[in-house]
Amino acid sequence: MGSYSIASNDNEQVNNKQIIFCDYISGFPKETDFVLKTSTIRLKLPRGSNGVLVKNLYLSCDAYMRFRMTKGGNSVVSAFKPGSPMVGYGVARVLDSGSQEMKKGDVVWGFTGWEEYSFITDTKSLVTIKYTDVPLSYYAGILGKAGMTAYAGFHEICSPKKGEYVFVSAAAGAVGQLVGQFAMLMGCYVVGCAGSNEKVHLLKNKLMFHEAFNYNEEHNLDAALKRYFPKGIDIYFENVGGEMIDAVLLNMRRNGRIAMCGAISQYNLDQPYGVKNLSCIISKSIRMEGFVVFIMIINCSPIHTRREDCVHGRCCGGT
Ligand SMILES: NC(=O)c1ccc[n+]([C@@H]2O[C@H](COP(=O)([O-])OP(=O)(O)OC[C@H]3O[C@@H](n4cnc5c(N)ncnc54)[C@H](OP(=O)(O)O)[C@@H]3O)[C@@H](O)[C@H]2O)c1
Repeated sequence: MGSYSIASNDNEQVNNKQIIFCDYISGFPKETDFVLKTSTIRLKLPRGSNGVLVKNLYLSCDAYMRFRMTKGGNSVVSAFKPGSPMVGYGVARVLDSGSQEMKKGDVVWGFTGWEEYSFITDTKSLVTIKYTDVPLSYYAGILGKAGMTAYAGFHEICSPKKGEYVFVSAAAGAVGQLVGQFAMLMGCYVVGCAGSNEKVHLLKNKLMFHEAFNYNEEHNLDAALKRYFPKGIDIYFENVGGEMIDAVLLNMRRNGRIAMCGAISQYNLDQPYGVKNLSCIISKSIRMEGFVVFIMIINCSPIHTRREDCVHGRCCGGT
């Protein structure tokens, strides 16, 4: 993404607060890896530019951004540039446009900078939001990357059927809690796990999961899953990786499906956990499939259209 700020000395400049990524990180990110800086920006595109100048309204902070903090990034995303503003999905209003696709006043969703104003030269990721009659913050959550990930991962990868047993890890997170909702709408039995009793309470009493447990209080994950799924798991929506996937493999039912969405427990480790129970995939005829919503979005998957339809209640039975 080509987002950067213009600093010139004429009087059309305004202050532009930015969150700057200081340098590549190993291990867990710390607050000192980022710095708040105020620069200036001219609220007019340079003559001849075919980019857009936007006022950022909402930004989402997503787990994949950790890969962009490592030198070289990964096979899907490039690394952030040290000394430059962080970049991520956000909602923004177009202030000036040299692009054929967007005009001044449009609200757009896509990659933008972690700053008040961004000059975006590479506009490929930006989509004009058609329906602005819902809170625009929804496009940083349920109608943004988290919602599309949960929807595509659950419906397109897991092929759910009514009455199936569904397990979701990181269930109180942005993606997990939506997977739980989609699974309940399908009439599945849904259990989530989370890392604190407060989150378990949220899952059971507000998000109405059938059951939830705190994985930090379970000495034996296999035994915990057997307790919640005496007949086994049909669908596992994987967000965490590590020991959890090993325990899940032991508890999957024949012809089960696993959506490999994320492995957040591994992102800050130098030495990843080695999964031991992969042979269950063969013996139980499990389908285990990874997906990257980012690639689905670039490839113009129908999830964009479905997102717009959902806003107007034309899918999920109008719920
Ligand atoms: N494939 C894709 O296209 C795609 C797209 C979006 C997200 N993802 C992946 O989906 C997963 C969830 O993303 P999200 O946006 O929902 O994240 P989120 O809202 O930031 O939630 C992440 C949660 O993961 C849990 N977690 C953190 N470290 C953990 C650890 N060491 N072991 C176990 N759990 C840990 C924490 O919950 P607890 O306190 O409950 O442990 C945390 O709140 C991530 O793995 C992310 O990379 C994939």
